[in-house]
Amino acid sequence: MLGLVMDYRRHRQNYRGDRLNKTLDGFFQKSFLAAFMLASAVPATAADAEHLKYLDESRKTAQEFMQTLGGTLKKQLELGGAESAIGVCKQVAPALASEYSKNGRVVKRVSLKARNVTQGTPDAWESDVLNSFELGQQQGKPVAEMEFTQITTDADGRWFRYMKAIPTQAMCLQCHGQSADISPNVRKLLLQEYPEDKAVGFSAGQVRGAMSIKYQLGNQSSVNR
Ligand code: HEC
Repeated sequence: MLGLVMDYRRHRQNYRGDRLNKTLDGFFQKSFLAAFMLASAVPATAADAEHLKYLDESRKTAQEFMQTLGGTLKKQLELGGAESAIGVCKQVAPALASEYSKNGRVVKRVSLKARNVTQGTPDAWESDVLNSFELGQQQGKPVAEMEFTQITTDADGRWFRYMKAIPTQAMCLQCHGQSADISPNVRKLLLQEYPEDKAVGFSAGQVRGAMSIKYQLGNQSSVNR
């Protein structure tokens, strides 16, 4: 277990935020494994314990967020159909995001093809991770199990970052599918609300986007003591 913790720490130290590049795939696989194994690892330092706590919290938050939104959406689709459910996505999703974003934590949903371009457009790190999720999906990996975690550094400081892939399900297609899946009325309403909407053309099983969660960390010296 210690080996994995060390592996994780090495990645953490190597990474400088804007340098995820051609090594991403191998990197992703290793970090993914490390993150996965870390859930049951014994923390080596106070910093590792802190990161494990954030990982655990992030996983719970992502799951809760998706379950709450998915449940509400499903109910409204059954009750009133897709036209009526647009409001659920428009209101409930941003409300949940701001409810969960507190005490130094930021919670978002992002996508390489966003509908809400203001809130859903990924930053460079998120884009790289989303690309790695898509690559994984093309290689036949189960989207529902994809997650990624890393310590990053940028102009605003150091962050614990976590992403969890959001799979496209059949029920999503009436608002995110091919043109044959979306009724003309729904398309019209979506374009009225989101003139720059890019979130169409998906098929079931594809990566629709991801939950993205980050926590601001203290400075390097306090963590590496
Ligand atoms: C009734 C129409 C509708 C359905 C069905 C629907 N969505 Fe959406 N989706 C939306 C709208 C509207 C937004 C923009 C919400 C906002 O303003 O934040 C959105 C945004 C998103 C986003 C945030 C990123 C972005 O593109 O802005 C994700 C991720 C997402 N949807 C995933 C899903 C998934 C997964 C499903 C199926 C479980 C689904 N949606 C079903 C209408 C829908």
